[in-house]
Amino acid sequence: MKWILPLIALVWQSHDKPPERAAPYYPTPPVVVERMLRLGELRKGEKLFDLGSGDGRIVIAGAQKFKARAAGVELDKGLVAQSRRSIAKLELQSLAEIIEGDLFEQDYSDADLITVYLLPVTNIRLSPVLEKKMKRGARVVCHDFEFTEWNPEKTEVIEDEEGRSHTLFLYRR
Ligand SMILES: C[S@@+](CC[C@H](N)C(=O)[O-])C[C@H]1O[C@@H](n2cnc3c(N)ncnc32)[C@H](O)[C@@H]1O
Repeated sequence: MKWILPLIALVWQSHDKPPERAAPYYPTPPVVVERMLRLGELRKGEKLFDLGSGDGRIVIAGAQKFKARAAGVELDKGLVAQSRRSIAKLELQSLAEIIEGDLFEQDYSDADLITVYLLPVTNIRLSPVLEKKMKRGARVVCHDFEFTEWNPEKTEVIEDEEGRSHTLFLYRR
């Protein structure tokens, strides 16, 4: 029975571990949001995930303009509440939802398109996770920071409303 205590400690620690904060909140400008979804070839009825969905702007654009089934994953309770309020105000609940939780822990097996605006160090950890979780043919669009282990199918550079330059990368699993 000597193994019981270490086992309980291990289970306890793994439950207690807070999710990794993968990036600070920094929103994608609206013109870039639209371009990300176009580059990702998002179509009506497809499943979109935005990993770290912030105020929900990518999820909302995916549901409103592209008629996709859009989900955001967000850790920050305030941003979760704000984005859920926006979705309700726009009456998009049948197409759009926000999952409160850790983006590393979700099921992406039905994703057609995943959008990512996180940090380079996070992308290094995330790419093998997505490789395991995504179906063949699914697409990923990254904003500014690429997945260094993958080869992009397309790269685009665009300017936002304030003349700042943004790089987008399209990958296909
Ligand atoms: C750079 S912002 C991008 C926001 C939004 N995707 C956009 O492009 O406008 C990154 C977001 O990821 C969220 N985040 C950071 N770590 C996370 C985690 N482990 N799980 C879920 N969300 C996370 C942050 O709270 C923040 O809202």
